[in-house]
Amino acid sequence: MMEKPIIETKNLTKIYNGKIKAVSDLNLTINEGEIYGLAGPNGAGKTTTINMLITRISPTGGSATVGGFDIAKNSLDVRRLIGVVPQDFTADEDLTGRENLMMVSQFYDVPKAKAQQSIKVLLKLVDLEEAADRLVRTYSGGMRKRLELIIGLVHEPKILFLDEPTLGLDVQTRTQMWNYVKEIQSRLNVTIILTSHYLEEIDELADRVSIIDHGKVLITGSPMELKESLKGDIINLTLTDQNGVNVMKTIPDVVEVTDIGANSVRIKVASADESLPKIINFISQHSLSTTKLTVQKPSLDEVFLEYTGRSIREEEGGDDARKLAMNMRRARQ
Ligand SMILES: Nc1ncnc2c1ncn2[C@@H]1O[C@H](COP(=O)(O)OP(=O)(O)OP(=O)(O)O)[C@@H](O)[C@H]1O
Ligand SMILES: [Mg+2]
Repeated sequence: MMEKPIIETKNLTKIYNGKIKAVSDLNLTINEGEIYGLAGPNGAGKTTTINMLITRISPTGGSATVGGFDIAKNSLDVRRLIGVVPQDFTADEDLTGRENLMMVSQFYDVPKAKAQQSIKVLLKLVDLEEAADRLVRTYSGGMRKRLELIIGLVHEPKILFLDEPTLGLDVQTRTQMWNYVKEIQSRLNVTIILTSHYLEEIDELADRVSIIDHGKVLITGSPMELKESLKGDIINLTLTDQNGVNVMKTIPDVVEVTDIGANSVRIKVASADESLPKIINFISQHSLSTTKLTVQKPSLDEVFLEYTGRSIREEEGGDDARKLAMNMRRARQ
């Protein structure tokens, strides 16, 4: 892919009410044609960043250009280039899907015949042709999100901002949305800026991603680069007792062994393919008994944990990943 920057931010900063630093000296370069992910937990500053780039709010420091236009000085030019699918629903429930699309087209002064034609194409793209003439209030959550997606596209923007496109959708509907986003990117050739706190979504969709927390970029790269930067596959091993755990901690030639509680260790290795036989030998040499062994290639969740020191799921209430993260953190201290 030819790398030509389409969005650049320089020390972009937003302080709300003189005290809440939502975005702090943010430096991003987003290239034409890519899907760029902004990942981070609740309150990381993702929406604030987007709101500045779409000229909905002004920065309190730094600068940014979108399609070559300065967001502070040329906001009208910026707005003509971009489409926005905000985190919250915007469609009018008492209109049909098609009527919503026509209304937005008129707002952008798209000639009627042209609007009708492109709305037809967009409806087809997200499989909403059949539901197009039903009131939006009869749509399912997934259908509404698909409608929102194409509302952002009626005026043929070069750049599309998607803020949490699958928030609140069930897993199945979420994966369907991913296909629609990919389809849009390849068919319409738009640059897409995507925020999400679902890291598997970013992994699936983004060409490159910045992980942000507390308004700052922690790391940027392709999902693959970030995962490889951890230099390690993870082998989770459950033993029959704590003694086994203590013995496992002495195993040579691995990157790291962490006691994660419940008679389990997390062994980080450069390559599971090469280390697994050695680990199995070690287990049998020391007459240990295991009840469970799993091999895990690093995911973006691990990347997030590595760079922020906590799991992204901690924000979302107590599941197993949260407990695991807490145990791992304790083990490190
Ligand atoms: N209008 C506002 N006035 C004051 N503070 C705000 C405002 N909007 C956001 N904030 C604060 O700025 C910080 C960043 O919020 P922001 O909405 O940008 O995060 P986010 O990454 O989009 O989070 P989420 O994942 O919940 O959507 C938070 O601490 C938030 O409380
Ligand atoms: Mg947000």
